Amino acid sequence: MRLPPVVTVVEVGPRDGLQNEPQPVGTALKVALIDRLGAAGLPVIEAGSFVSPSRVPQMADTAAVLAGIVRRAGCRYPVLVPNIEGLRRALAAGASEVAVFAAASESFSRRNLNCTIGQSFERYAAVCAAAKAAAVPVRGYVSCVLGCPYEGEVPASAVAEVGAALHAMGCFEISLGDTIGIGTPGRAVAMVEAVAERVPREAVALHFHDTYGQALANILACLQAGVATVDASVAGLGGCPFAPGAAGNVATEDVVYMLGGLGIRTGVDLGAVAEAGRFIAEALGRKPASKAAQALSARAPA
Ligand code: HMG
Ligand code: MG
Repeated sequence: MRLPPVVTVVEVGPRDGLQNEPQPVGTALKVALIDRLGAAGLPVIEAGSFVSPSRVPQMADTAAVLAGIVRRAGCRYPVLVPNIEGLRRALAAGASEVAVFAAASESFSRRNLNCTIGQSFERYAAVCAAAKAAAVPVRGYVSCVLGCPYEGEVPASAVAEVGAALHAMGCFEISLGDTIGIGTPGRAVAMVEAVAERVPREAVALHFHDTYGQALANILACLQAGVATVDASVAGLGGCPFAPGAAGNVATEDVVYMLGGLGIRTGVDLGAVAEAGRFIAEALGRKPASKAAQALSARAPA
């Protein structure tokens, strides 16, 4: 197997995970989770989003979260912004990295952003220009890369088109979101190959939700295709409020366990990230969705 020697794991649980929680999650709990994830060695932790609070109430306190966390040297704390107003709020809160999010399907773009894909590009070009002026790097997401909850199949060429547009406007990395976790390895690799014709492979990241239990298999296949950045959510938290029925991202614990077994370096301490997962799952009143975390708990002395 040809595999990268080092993989960057991007922890998205505090944003992609908690944005979807039906019950209120307090700021102090979010801060404690992020600080635990940082201590576990995660190099990138998505800390929240500056979106419309009426659309996603769970993320309304992101400024307070950024003010409360202990920013560890060498750790990045990006936040999502859907428009220039989001960037303004993010910069005012001291964010030093942001992410924009477009979709490869028109219907999802409308539901998630209330605009067409083309209109989202206009907004994001303005965000990228203003972020550049503020020396703040911008990551770019593409949603629905392996299927759309409203349109079904999404052609890889459409994903490549959106990824290329975001990269051309200045996004340093393009994270490919299987929003509804519907993909399988062959299609995932074909989609990555289509994107890699338009975006440098080293700028590609994987963002796979695990609805059908395929995320780890899809990740392994795409690592063999030369991708070396993987998004994951501690305890498998989450989903997207605008993709009904979609499960959380692949669990960070499962990704770290698999990468460790393959001899790939991540810098993440599996025991510590599993502990962070137990911490947040217990606070939310459930067990971590991660199989690796469950196995580690079963092994741990009482
Ligand atoms: P809109 O619905 O078109 O309406 O919003 P608007 O532009 O007229 O704004 C509505 C209200 O929001 C106004 O306030 C604005 O001022 C305010 P009002 O006049 O009613 O008092 N507003 C804002 N407030 C705070 N921060 C802002 C902001 N912008 C406007 N940045 C908008 C358009 C894009 C803002 C809205 O649709 C929105 O916030 N969408 C975000 C949806 C979202 O967060 N989705 C989840 C994240 S994406 C995801 O999970 C997928 C991903 O994980 C990858 C994958 O898995 O595929 C990334
Ligand atoms: Mg997502």
